[in-house]
Amino acid sequence: MNYSTTIANEHFDHLLLNAGGIFCETVDQLEKIQHAPGAGAVMTKSATAEKRAGNPNPRYFTYPDHHNTINAMGLPNLGIDYYLDYVLHHQLTLPTILSVVGLSEEEIVANVKKIRASGYDGLIELNLSCPNVPGKPQIAYDFDTTDHLLDRIYSFFTGHLGVKLPPYFDMAHFDRIAKILNQYPLAYVNAVNSVGNGLVIDPETDRVVLMAKGGFGGLGGAQIKATALANVRALRLRLKPEIKIIGTGGVTTGRDVYDHLLCGADLVSVGSQLAIEGPSIFQRLEDELEAIFAEKHIESLDQVRGKLKRLDEAE
Ligand code: DHB
Repeated sequence: MNYSTTIANEHFDHLLLNAGGIFCETVDQLEKIQHAPGAGAVMTKSATAEKRAGNPNPRYFTYPDHHNTINAMGLPNLGIDYYLDYVLHHQLTLPTILSVVGLSEEEIVANVKKIRASGYDGLIELNLSCPNVPGKPQIAYDFDTTDHLLDRIYSFFTGHLGVKLPPYFDMAHFDRIAKILNQYPLAYVNAVNSVGNGLVIDPETDRVVLMAKGGFGGLGGAQIKATALANVRALRLRLKPEIKIIGTGGVTTGRDVYDHLLCGADLVSVGSQLAIEGPSIFQRLEDELEAIFAEKHIESLDQVRGKLKRLDEAE
């Protein structure tokens, strides 16, 4: 299959990348994704202005079924200078997206200004949806703040920006966020971040499995697939076509990648299952996807992308 895909000024030869936060905190990890067969891009760990240790351990838990996770990482990262240095000065094999976050609006704006001043011209992802910093709400659940922040950033920034969104669960919220995002020249949206503030209990000890936040944490893996697909689909139906979509959530098989494409994803990222299997997962997923294309006699991505059928349509 020809996977050739473009977002803003970046060209991708494969569809898959690491989901934010997974396998992308250190140069060593980032380099493993850069060189993983089947990977099409690399996402850096969301960076704050200063480096952060994050929440106390245990802060990441894989369910015994090996397909689901809960985490309360708390934004451990090496700081914006580290990731900016990586994208500016390392020999990058793949398109690399620089993810930025902040604990305040001021910090986010300052990070974007620093990136602009550096001359970096690649894709930036604004993470508006980290659920794990105690006392800090997920920005994109506050529609007015999201609108205000984007307005502020676009008043000085002319580069290529995407936003990482939390999952929405209400049709009125899909309408609301899409209307806001359509006002701006965004390169893409990435849907979805982990499903915030789930709770997992260890049946042997009757205790939660994470130290921070009383055990509350962001859910990932197979359990969030339906929510992720709904968000990709709902956004594709509402966003202007120039805004591309990275589909994230619930990808453990090639069929899951295919379903994200049907819903309208341009690229697909893998989080929990990448953490479980390691970077060899990209080739496995691409091989499984190829097998589906062969079985269905699909010769071009255009035959799949956004082509989800309603129940009253012909098969
Ligand atoms: C973290 C979790 C997220 O879901 C995210 O988008 C950013 C950071 C974290 O806890 O580190």
